[in-house]
Amino acid sequence: MLEDTSFAIRPIDQLDEKEVWQPLGDVQKIEGKKQIFAFTCENASGKIHFYRDDIVRITIDPFAQKYASVSPAVVAAPEKVTMHVQEVENGWELKTNALTVVIERRPFRITVYDREGKVLVRDVEPVRFQAKGRMRCAHALAPTDVVYGLGEKTGVLNKRGAVWKMWNTDVYAPHNLETDPLYQSHPYMMVLKDGHAHGVFFDHTYETTFDLRHESFYTFTSEGGALDYYVFAGPHPKDVLGQYTHLVGRMPLPPKWALGYHQSRYSYETEQEVRELIDTFRKKHIPLDAVYLDIHYMDEYRVFTFDQNRFPHPKSLVQYASEQGVRIVPIVDPGVKVDAEYDTYRDGVQKDYFCKYADGTLFKGDVWPGTSVFPDFLKKKVRKWWGEQHAFYTSIGIEGIWNDMNEPSVFNETKTMDDQVVHDGWKTHRQVHNIYGMMMTEATYNGLKKQLKGKRPFVLTRAGFSGIHRYAAVWTGDNRSFWEHLELSLPMCLNLGLSAVAFCGADVGGFAHDAHGGLLVRWTQVGAFFPYFRNHCAIGFARQEPWAFGETYEQMVKRYIELRYEWLPHLYTLCFEAYQTGVPMMRPLMLEYPDDAETWNISDQFMVGNEVMIAPVMRPHTFHRLVYFPKGRWIDYWTKEKFEGGRRYIVEAPLDRLPIFVKEGAMIARAEAKQSTSIADEQLTLYVYTMEEGISSYTLYDDDGTTFAYEKGEYVNMHIRATFSDDAVHFEIEREGAYKPPWQLHVVFVGDVPSTIVVNGERCIIDEATNTFVL
Ligand code: NOJ
Repeated sequence: MLEDTSFAIRPIDQLDEKEVWQPLGDVQKIEGKKQIFAFTCENASGKIHFYRDDIVRITIDPFAQKYASVSPAVVAAPEKVTMHVQEVENGWELKTNALTVVIERRPFRITVYDREGKVLVRDVEPVRFQAKGRMRCAHALAPTDVVYGLGEKTGVLNKRGAVWKMWNTDVYAPHNLETDPLYQSHPYMMVLKDGHAHGVFFDHTYETTFDLRHESFYTFTSEGGALDYYVFAGPHPKDVLGQYTHLVGRMPLPPKWALGYHQSRYSYETEQEVRELIDTFRKKHIPLDAVYLDIHYMDEYRVFTFDQNRFPHPKSLVQYASEQGVRIVPIVDPGVKVDAEYDTYRDGVQKDYFCKYADGTLFKGDVWPGTSVFPDFLKKKVRKWWGEQHAFYTSIGIEGIWNDMNEPSVFNETKTMDDQVVHDGWKTHRQVHNIYGMMMTEATYNGLKKQLKGKRPFVLTRAGFSGIHRYAAVWTGDNRSFWEHLELSLPMCLNLGLSAVAFCGADVGGFAHDAHGGLLVRWTQVGAFFPYFRNHCAIGFARQEPWAFGETYEQMVKRYIELRYEWLPHLYTLCFEAYQTGVPMMRPLMLEYPDDAETWNISDQFMVGNEVMIAPVMRPHTFHRLVYFPKGRWIDYWTKEKFEGGRRYIVEAPLDRLPIFVKEGAMIARAEAKQSTSIADEQLTLYVYTMEEGISSYTLYDDDGTTFAYEKGEYVNMHIRATFSDDAVHFEIEREGAYKPPWQLHVVFVGDVPSTIVVNGERCIIDEATNTFVL
């Protein structure tokens, strides 16, 4: 039974528009071929194309292909789908096992239902368009529906109540609740309706706007292009992530070193300073895996150069760092200095690789190097060329690159390239602006991958579009050393994660403005559990290395950087999960507890995997906070105190304590703290949070951490299942994969140690001295 849709209202009159919006008119014809249904209306043609049972694509084009999509987001080809089609009273019903699409003839409208006949998407007014290529649709939303996703946005977790625009923009001014847009565009949302989730992805590269201010509908407007969107059936939020990332791809595994602690500053200005920085970390025994070189390493900001005075021996610097287990990550911006004596500029001009106007003149804009030109990353051969330029770095041992300013940012009034610039021969900048940065990171990633000969590259990017996670980790740009920005970073990264960007983080300590000890401690605590963990700070502001604010704060910051390394086996396991399923490591509570309405709007707590919950303190001089515990029993990581779920508690959090809670029954693998991921673990410990009765499971993943051999089965997945009953625990262990890890796995019980321990059917004796045993 399909849900009654008579609730639908017509919002058109409520939308204040000067331009005339034209309707598509009635459907005149529909033709089905297997899983593709083409239709013609008075003023448009369109297609309903099932990509899978649970994914349907809807395209509506009144412009006869004039604005054909150039989006690089989708990588999956449609799979074979079995359909049931019937003509109904006012149209057609197209049905798979997971979705039903009803096309109404008069006027043309679409409704998408889930397997149970519940409405997921419903045109509450007919789709409309304007002569200039704008399109708009309005879909029903119930007042209680919650909207997530939309990538990198300010504000709280639930995106309703505001207008959100997609237009990649460099924003240095303090990000606040009304700062929109930022650097990335993810025109994708996940809607939670009574605990059931579905997704909608508008694959539009033009500027687009989501208006989520209304009670019973939302509108989506695109400044150009045929309407082109996908609906994902869910019903669990993890299903939606699986469906969306099936379409736009999943993140490859990063090298392990990318998950370590990274230190950055705009800028460490000399080779000597970088060496001393590394030495200080090592002297103080603070773990460190990467140091970033911001724009001052270059010769007057020319990319692919080193300043001969400040960085005369980059190769030996990289070598020195590598001996200390540290990678050097230089920044690379897209702007190429206009300078007739500069090779990259000359070569690019000669090859005709820079962006131009239709009349053939080069687009020039001011960025750090002064007047600059910009590679036309929309051209395949330009991407190849740009990738090849990175041999300049990889030939001296560099394995990671930081892409910045790639919105692209230009120091002019519009803050970016002129709309009228054309790319790849005919695409206007207006059309491809939002994907420019992603094409740059694609070029960087693929160039590095080729040159690193089997090693995994690491790319960090500021700009991006849906699918960016295939090439790069994302950091959230120029935040500030404000408590509010620490707080903002949670929902921002959580929604990035729900938008498939599993590997993301914010500048720890804050970029602009002066940090201080208390803030750095609290921020490092949170950062240690974000997927990407980098401390970065702007020029002219207080230094914020771990020791910057004196001994007391240093010890606390150090402790949490160490904690990061202790938790790495677990975090790496979660990375593998993201690679396989699209489910991010850092998760809003609703992703694990969609049935619990209390979790839907929690922006200040998050899960790391499915059984660890972090409830950070993000206010000055605050040493306790209110925490919501979802169902089940939870154990305080530090004090082992127990909390019954389904209610709130006030928990104590002195400055040196990040509130972490582990679910009873959980198993989590951890390592000893170490100075760098380049040191192999000889021993891992599986902490088993015992329970009286019940079954729990955990999969510990590992591989060599540096190559792509995992793609060919060179990994180990230890599937561990524990059954607790009658003061006994039975472990069933299964190893999968060809990789032989260097570690042994010891087991430690947290809570009451069961009297009987059985592993794969054999009784096991605990070592009395260490109170552990080896699995
Ligand atoms: C802007 C970036 O967001 C920031 O992280 C960087 O330090 C500066 N550009 C200078 O390169």
